[in-house]
Amino acid sequence: MRTHYCTDVTENNIGETITVAGWVNSRRDHGGLIFIDLRDKSGIVQLVCDPTDNKDAWEIADKVRDEFVLIATGKIRARGEGLENPRLKTGKIEIVLDTLIIENRSKPMPFELGDERVNEEIRLKNRFLELRTERSYNIFKLRSKVGIAARNTLDNLGFLDVETPILTKSTPEGARDYLVPSRVHGGEFYALPQSPQLFKQLLMVSGFDRYYQIAKCFRDEDLRADRQPEFTQIDVEMSFCNQEDVMAVAEELIYNIFEAAGHQIPKKFNRMTYHDAMEIYGSDKPDMRFDMAMVDVIDIFANSTNEIFANIAKNPKANRIKALKCPNGDNIFSKRQMKGFEDYVRKFGAHGLGYFQMKEDGLKGPLTKFFSEADLEEIVKRTNLVEGDVVFFGAGDKKTVMDYMGRFRLFLAKEMDIIPKDTFEFLWVVDFPMFETENGRTKALHHPFTMPKDLSDTSDLEAIDSIAYDIVLNGTELGGGSIRIHKQEIQAKVFELMGISDEEAREKFGFLLDALEFGAPPHGGFALGFDRLIMLLARTDSIRDVIAFPKTQKAQCLLTQAPSEVDPEQLKELSIRIRRTEQ
Ligand code: AMO
Repeated sequence: MRTHYCTDVTENNIGETITVAGWVNSRRDHGGLIFIDLRDKSGIVQLVCDPTDNKDAWEIADKVRDEFVLIATGKIRARGEGLENPRLKTGKIEIVLDTLIIENRSKPMPFELGDERVNEEIRLKNRFLELRTERSYNIFKLRSKVGIAARNTLDNLGFLDVETPILTKSTPEGARDYLVPSRVHGGEFYALPQSPQLFKQLLMVSGFDRYYQIAKCFRDEDLRADRQPEFTQIDVEMSFCNQEDVMAVAEELIYNIFEAAGHQIPKKFNRMTYHDAMEIYGSDKPDMRFDMAMVDVIDIFANSTNEIFANIAKNPKANRIKALKCPNGDNIFSKRQMKGFEDYVRKFGAHGLGYFQMKEDGLKGPLTKFFSEADLEEIVKRTNLVEGDVVFFGAGDKKTVMDYMGRFRLFLAKEMDIIPKDTFEFLWVVDFPMFETENGRTKALHHPFTMPKDLSDTSDLEAIDSIAYDIVLNGTELGGGSIRIHKQEIQAKVFELMGISDEEAREKFGFLLDALEFGAPPHGGFALGFDRLIMLLARTDSIRDVIAFPKTQKAQCLLTQAPSEVDPEQLKELSIRIRRTEQ
């Protein structure tokens, strides 16, 4: 229907007659002269119609309203002196209407396109309209480009794109499953995959050697700004490889993706052990765009005359006392603000938040009286304090202290606005523990198919490391993976340590265990969160911006009104009866 997209033409095309098609971005009437900004995916071009030149077209143009669909033919001319619009690519020209067709009308818009103040509920209900904005289109253009760069890279490296089932059995990523009832097998359910994990491992047993997939995953878990119930992974698995081989593929993939998106990043990423990340930054996904490392001071606090600190310091295996320097904090924050910081950390289990201020003549603050001069000097030395700095202390049980101090580090950096916005800081976090204990139950931290480093000593399960690694970008977990267990005996041992009976293991993952007995090669892989990747590249704070039709924080699709009740007949066919719980 068109000869050109709206922004295909510039002053070089003056005199040409073209046909453009799109939506009315705006329409203005200047004393009879009608101007229409016509928009398509490429941008905007101005149409103009003078009633004295072309009465027929003018009469149609007069009826046009916002978001009507038009097909317009006309001749390109230069805009008059002073009427140019430098903000538009086509700002030096306009199209003088020859003929105008109103192809479709539009009801008045429920919100103004691009107005970010409009509440999200209205925008999501009308997501197809929000997607008309240039910002949205650019995000999906980026998403498409990144997908192509990923496919090209993996294809070049010999990976085969294989689709794995969506209707399947429960997978072991640790969230709740979405279930799909079977009609044919009344009372039985499929689970939607939390990831293609088990199938990609099976493909390695099949000898495919290198697999990838841009895969939909489904997890019924609490949602956050960077989590959706239905999301996409760039999922990779390879055989006869060690951790270094897998990391090299991930680095090449990410390098090419960022290059395609117009960013130059390092070819190799820094690495840090999980242990160090937790001890130094209080997080398994530290944001490396700024420093603010924590320092251990438990040995110094052991000498203090404050009973609480001294007691905590008595058990350095279970407890921590961490110091966090806030550069120039004494000049930035008031006493009241520093008191407010205590309220912040209390939300995460802290009993309090001590601090010293570094003044011209040394450390000051209510806690100094509990320390000897020499110990105060040691604190200054260890935390590298200069005049104007503040140093905060977290003391207590190891897990709690690392968690709230890690959060506090981020909180302070945001308060001080010291986090660079335009950099990409990658980090591999390696050597994750194999197990974690939650409510007295031992769980696999990554998943139970992760290869442990060494199972010869199982007296302290939490001390066993695994060959698992995460890719962290600007403090967000972008991806993760591991080398897998390919020997049945090791797998059986891991299940045993987790307290999973043979029977339970067989029932849940029997097909994988069987496969391990038929010559499974050594293998490993990783998955990148595709949506999170686009979020970081597009520098948006909400994962919903980068998913065409996202769900709300409550896992609803406001556009289609899913989830919704279904016809009783449908339920009957599925052998399902709904039991309403009393409110
Ligand atoms: P994992 O569970 O770490 O690993 O997931 C990999 C990456 O997927 C992204 N991600 C999410 N993105 C949006 N919404 C969610 N709810 C969500 N959950 C996870 C994250 C995460 O780093 N099978 C393993 C990979 C492997 O071992 O090969 C897996 O799924 O960016």
